[in-house]
Amino acid sequence: MTDSPGRVVAIATVKGGSGKTTLAMCLAARWLYAGRATAVIDTDPQRSARRWAFAGSQLEIMRVDVCPPEDGDALTRQIAALRRVGFERIVIDTPGYRSPALLGALTHADLVVVPVRPSPVDFEVAADTFDLMRGVTAERPGVQPPTVRMVLTQVTPRTVIAGHMRDELIAAGYPLLTHELSHRVAFAEAPFTGSVPGLIDPRGAAAREVEALGAELDAVLEEMS
Ligand SMILES: Nc1ncnc2c1ncn2[C@@H]1O[C@H](COP(=O)(O)OP(=O)(O)OP(=O)(O)O)[C@@H](O)[C@H]1O
Ligand SMILES: [Mg+2]
Repeated sequence: MTDSPGRVVAIATVKGGSGKTTLAMCLAARWLYAGRATAVIDTDPQRSARRWAFAGSQLEIMRVDVCPPEDGDALTRQIAALRRVGFERIVIDTPGYRSPALLGALTHADLVVVPVRPSPVDFEVAADTFDLMRGVTAERPGVQPPTVRMVLTQVTPRTVIAGHMRDELIAAGYPLLTHELSHRVAFAEAPFTGSVPGLIDPRGAAAREVEALGAELDAVLEEMS
């Protein structure tokens, strides 16, 4: 554990199935195995992150707490407890719909990462997610709003739709990350193994994408320090 402040990274969008849990678990494992004290808080009642971690033995050392949705103050207490014992990265996986759990995660986040698939619906819903964030910020005047980044996920490389989506998001002014996650079997299979591409095949394409994305996010987090 280090003395650096614990950063809360919420993976959030109001679009279901956009790749939140995949992103949360891959990034958290990347940070953990890079030597950073990292924990996940699973705020989704489906408990997908928790189930993922328990599907095998490779992520057993990663702390994955669940946040009871009926207890409004639980997230605040859990984050404070993790910070107190020195966790540097606290990754929050959220439900894919407007819910107290999602609003709570947005309220506590230092950095919000919004995954978007290359589809017209995801593009429109991205706007809803940003509206929701603006609403949360407006309710807390004087409190520093979270830094926000958008990331393309489940991208089929070199397709017209992927290029079009990138152009549209940038033209609309969204803070799009340079690195993205492609649609790969390695990501889809990972939850069944209780592991992540970075541990299963560290030199594989999926692992390299997570590594590049994690490094880009580290730079964003460092800029915030
Ligand atoms: N980059 C990817 N390549 C291939 N499959 C992916 C990728 N990302 C996610 N998937 C698959 O897409 C489905 C949805 O992904 P995931 O569960 O991560 O999304 P989610 O946003 O957490 O969904 P929910 O809103 O239900 O919580 C899963 O079957 C997952 O394995
Ligand atoms: Mg999920």
